Amino acid sequence: MTFFTKIYESWRKIQYEKYEVILENLRLYGLELNNKYIFDLGSSKGFLHDFLEEKGIKPRVFVAMDVDKEAIRKNRTSLKVLGRGEALPFKREIFDVIFCIDVLHLLKRVVDIDPLKNGGVLIISLPERYEHKMNAGVEHLTKNGCKPLSLFEISGQEKEKVAIIIRE
Ligand SMILES: C[S@@+](CC[C@H](N)C(=O)[O-])C[C@H]1O[C@@H](n2cnc3c(N)ncnc32)[C@H](O)[C@@H]1O
Repeated sequence: MTFFTKIYESWRKIQYEKYEVILENLRLYGLELNNKYIFDLGSSKGFLHDFLEEKGIKPRVFVAMDVDKEAIRKNRTSLKVLGRGEALPFKREIFDVIFCIDVLHLLKRVVDIDPLKNGGVLIISLPERYEHKMNAGVEHLTKNGCKPLSLFEISGQEKEKVAIIIRE
């Protein structure tokens, strides 16, 4: 294993820890991912897709999007979009769940929830050092037709703040 592969794989492990906790929290609210329309914004090489596959979770549709061409090329998801999170190329209200894991701080504005169905959920996760961005994002979404369902912390190798937000 090369040095780069080792670093890459150790990051995969850190992300999988986060996904595990997020999944547990979604289940607490009766939110399952099987048979759902899921969008992974800022998917990178597709760790979330691979994690769900390993867990035996079968979304109805899983779309990955990233601005990085190389990341999208390596992503094993079958529905992939190369593009910016600030200009989503989707119709209104098509996804049940939007994941935005470690991406919000890189966007020029808060996630556009138009492609999220009413009653659908947006999951935002950010390292603790970007807590101010999380708070600003949650405040903006709350003023624009969303309600925070759960706000929690993950204390894994990286301390992470997570918000599960429902579109009303
Ligand atoms: C820290 S990685 C997070 C990857 C992934 N969400 C995960 O769970 O491991 C951030 C990703 O966001 C992407 N990104 C940065 N700015 C973006 C933008 N404006 N629109 C879409 N993706 C963006 C980067 O290319 C990178 O792949």
